[in-house]
Amino acid sequence: MNHTKLINGKSIDLGVCYYPEHWDPSLWPEDLDRMLEAGLKTVRIAEFAWSLIEPREGQYTYEFFDEFLALAQEKGIQVIFSTPTATPPAWLTKKYPETLNTDMEGHPIHHGARRHYNYNSPVYRRLCANIVEKSASHYAAHPAIVGWQLDNEFNCENSMFYSESDTLSFRSFLQAKYGSLDALNKAWGTVFWNQTYTEWEEIHVPRKTNSNSVNPHLMLDYFRFISDSVCSFAKMQAEIIRKYQKPGDFITTNGMFPHIDYQRLRRESLDVLMHDSYPNFAYCLDGFRADDRMKDRGSSRGLAEIRAVSAVFGIMEQQSGANGWNVSMEAPNPRPGQMTLWTMQSIAHGADYVSYFRWRTCTFGTEMYWHGILDYSGRENRRLWEVKEISRKISRIQELAGSLYEAEVGILKDYDNIWDAQTDKWHARVESASQDALFTALQQSHTPFDYVYLENHTTPESLLQYKLLFYPHACILTKERAELLEQYVAAGGKLILGCRTGYKDSYGRCVMDHLPGLVSGLSGTDIAEYSFVAPDEGKVAADWDGSRLEAAVFHDMLSLAGENAQVLARYTSGCYEGFPALIRNSFGNGEVYYFGGAFTPDTVKVFLNKLEIAEPYRNVIRLPESCELAVRKKEGKKYLFVLNYLAQPAKIILQVPVHDLWLGETLFGECDLEGYGTKVYCLS
Ligand code: GAL
Repeated sequence: MNHTKLINGKSIDLGVCYYPEHWDPSLWPEDLDRMLEAGLKTVRIAEFAWSLIEPREGQYTYEFFDEFLALAQEKGIQVIFSTPTATPPAWLTKKYPETLNTDMEGHPIHHGARRHYNYNSPVYRRLCANIVEKSASHYAAHPAIVGWQLDNEFNCENSMFYSESDTLSFRSFLQAKYGSLDALNKAWGTVFWNQTYTEWEEIHVPRKTNSNSVNPHLMLDYFRFISDSVCSFAKMQAEIIRKYQKPGDFITTNGMFPHIDYQRLRRESLDVLMHDSYPNFAYCLDGFRADDRMKDRGSSRGLAEIRAVSAVFGIMEQQSGANGWNVSMEAPNPRPGQMTLWTMQSIAHGADYVSYFRWRTCTFGTEMYWHGILDYSGRENRRLWEVKEISRKISRIQELAGSLYEAEVGILKDYDNIWDAQTDKWHARVESASQDALFTALQQSHTPFDYVYLENHTTPESLLQYKLLFYPHACILTKERAELLEQYVAAGGKLILGCRTGYKDSYGRCVMDHLPGLVSGLSGTDIAEYSFVAPDEGKVAADWDGSRLEAAVFHDMLSLAGENAQVLARYTSGCYEGFPALIRNSFGNGEVYYFGGAFTPDTVKVFLNKLEIAEPYRNVIRLPESCELAVRKKEGKKYLFVLNYLAQPAKIILQVPVHDLWLGETLFGECDLEGYGTKVYCLS
């Protein structure tokens, strides 16, 4: 656990995002008093305020935030101070247009919104290092400050970079990786369509081509390069802040966006990662799907992703009002109870700090419809009352600070495969079907799970805390990864693999091997043929001792390889009817299941039931499918969170006596949970 001033295992805290620059300073004292009265003890500030510190190049004015920090200190409000690099000022981009990102055609993304910069412009790096140095050296000693936020939402809104500086840095990145053009040409298969490079200067970040196809191996390296650019940009800032920060102050950043290796980002630059949780996106008028049974519950997926980076984390921006930009996103006001529900959703997954976005709704600019706790007038309102009620609830669950989310099921992930799926449609189709299915099935069956990121230093021991691991479509496999999986299984783990496993190498090239390549032995499987499920084929099913498995999207024609393998299910329809669809292989003390398709929610549920891992708390609590169950544990105690996402009440049956932390009473038997209601039960 961190020894920082928030998220330190000692308390669960609430805060809010505040923009002193949006309001007349005469409002500040009253705002801070009202925050404290509502139980909001920390504010995050300054992430878009470059011009308030450096209004012209080389001129620095610290008075504005000095005044605010003095007031915060006087009132007893803690401050998370941000570096302002997400919005370079107009003077900067005018004088140094090379700092701008461009579109794929090389046209600049002009000043006027945000995140218009590129990470690799040497001028921008210099100017950023400078403003971070000035801010940190001036403000870091301030007693009100407890932590630092780097930039704001790296890669939000745009995660592709095409400027000239990016091309130059991409070449250096590739030179360091490959050493010679020969090696690069081989790795990228440039002999195909005569792409062979004879000089480094011929290589560019992706550009517009016929049919919009860019060499897939270049694309995979390009995503790795973007991640590398973000990580080194963040590290540059973190190293400066570390020179000045007070002991116990933390460094964080917020949100999760594409093409970033967050494990590396955290390891190199952050004490803790924070998330931005906006479950109300599910209710935006555009994109609303009545048939989506997850809706705002889908945000638990992002929370599980954050937990894979920081086991106990924070929420820097928690939804408190309607979503809305003047140009996009029209969403309703959260209904009474939903703010509490979403706050508890975050805490259930491991958040020990929750900061609302934002205090007052801005009266101008792009986000004037993105509502905060207060509306434009600042009058008392229902959302503020709800925050006060949340504060009272949080005071009753302080004992669970620092507790860890409990899961017996893990879903393995790695950035090579994630990024490969972002450039490869075949990979993307199976991956997205299976990830949706896994999330839905595990949620609906009340089977808590973790995402587990495989890194070079991942050990079999760390995987063995999970009884069951899904690695649905590890298309890219390396020898080291395959060995790690072997060690996990040999030591008693259970592993479920899906179609398309092991057909690519680390450059994203297909291997000239019997599939599933490097895990043929481990899975006892050989794949003689494979195909997408044809659009006129309907649903392809297989039978596993009376249980129906659907092979979604794709199907492999399997056969046995090795004497410990056995066929568990055969296709009952489709072009491989009668052939094996599921093989189980005993390997050491464990077993591997190779399933020839992508997964559907019902298919996942069949695996969970047959392997007797579904619903681990069924002897403690029964609850409807529409409620989420999450469990955090600490010092022999388990805390069961029950979250009702529907407007209608739900019935819960407590099979053993548990302590209701909201009521302070021990309960047993049937209980009612109101619409959007939440419960925290302690089981000791
Ligand atoms: C987040 C961002 C905030 C604000 C909010 C609402 O993505 O960090 O600055 O823009 O969304 O749009």
